[in-house]
Amino acid sequence: MHFQWYPGHMTKAKRQMQEDIKLIDLVIELVDARVPQSSRNPDIDDLGRQKARLILMNKADLADEKQNLEWESYFREKGFFVVKLDARTKAGMKEISSVIMDACKEKIARDRKRGIKNRPVRAMVVGIPNVGKSTFINTYAGKACAKTGNKPGVTKGKQWIRLNKNVELLDTPGILWPKFEDQRVGLYLAMVGSIKDELLNKDELSLELIKILLENYPGALAQRYEVSEGQEPAGVLMEIAKNRNCVKKGGELDYSKASALVVEEFRSGRIGKITLEFPGGEG
Ligand code: G4P
Repeated sequence: MHFQWYPGHMTKAKRQMQEDIKLIDLVIELVDARVPQSSRNPDIDDLGRQKARLILMNKADLADEKQNLEWESYFREKGFFVVKLDARTKAGMKEISSVIMDACKEKIARDRKRGIKNRPVRAMVVGIPNVGKSTFINTYAGKACAKTGNKPGVTKGKQWIRLNKNVELLDTPGILWPKFEDQRVGLYLAMVGSIKDELLNKDELSLELIKILLENYPGALAQRYEVSEGQEPAGVLMEIAKNRNCVKKGGELDYSKASALVVEEFRSGRIGKITLEFPGGEG
């Protein structure tokens, strides 16, 4: 499978982020809970050195709860604060505010020692495209947010969103590019819909997805499509095409239509709550 990327954009985005990170105390990194490793760009660990770090495992509503817990422990062990999230809903947002304070407690204590009281924690949201950055900012900031910055006397200030008396958020998220060196990373990101569809071959993608589902979520395809799972992915796809009436004009089975159906139904969670990669590298 071939993916396109744009070194020019990436360099610019990285430079911008290097500048923005100087202004903040906390990096809020969104990952996709279905592919928590592949949806990260490890460069952020370098860029966010010496900052407090919070990982939001977003789209947790689409992922396998057992694996969500495994990944949560995995990231915690690496020293991150972690919250699982569905960024489209307000639930969980309260928890985030308290975790932010917890993640920044050293900074707050340092401020106090120097006699600085009530200086808000400044944070920025980062993540790869489509991981839910804008959704999160909108839900979290809600209507109550007030934009700060660009005050009289401040010429070209950054826009900060005042979330409450303790936290300010940079209003534009930082975009990280996924690392495509590993073929599997590209594949996983394509499955969850983070890579533009026109760049990929859906038939190939659906066969890979069926293979993963057969291995790791036995029963899921049988339940959704009434297919027999004791066969190769191509056979399963054929049965899905039959059972879902994916046929061309002459009555021939339409594999492309069946492929698109499987990928779409996986992405929207209709096949079940599924995680594609597991801590420790398997999957
Ligand atoms: P970005 O700024 O990081 O690029 O992502 P954005 O917020 O635009 O979110 C991308 C898509 O993901 C949106 O769907 C959004 O509704 C969905 N989304 C964000 N957070 C969650 C979550 O926690 N759970 C679920 N299930 N979905 C989430 P969209 O606008 O409909 O786009 P698309 O689905 O048509 O791609």
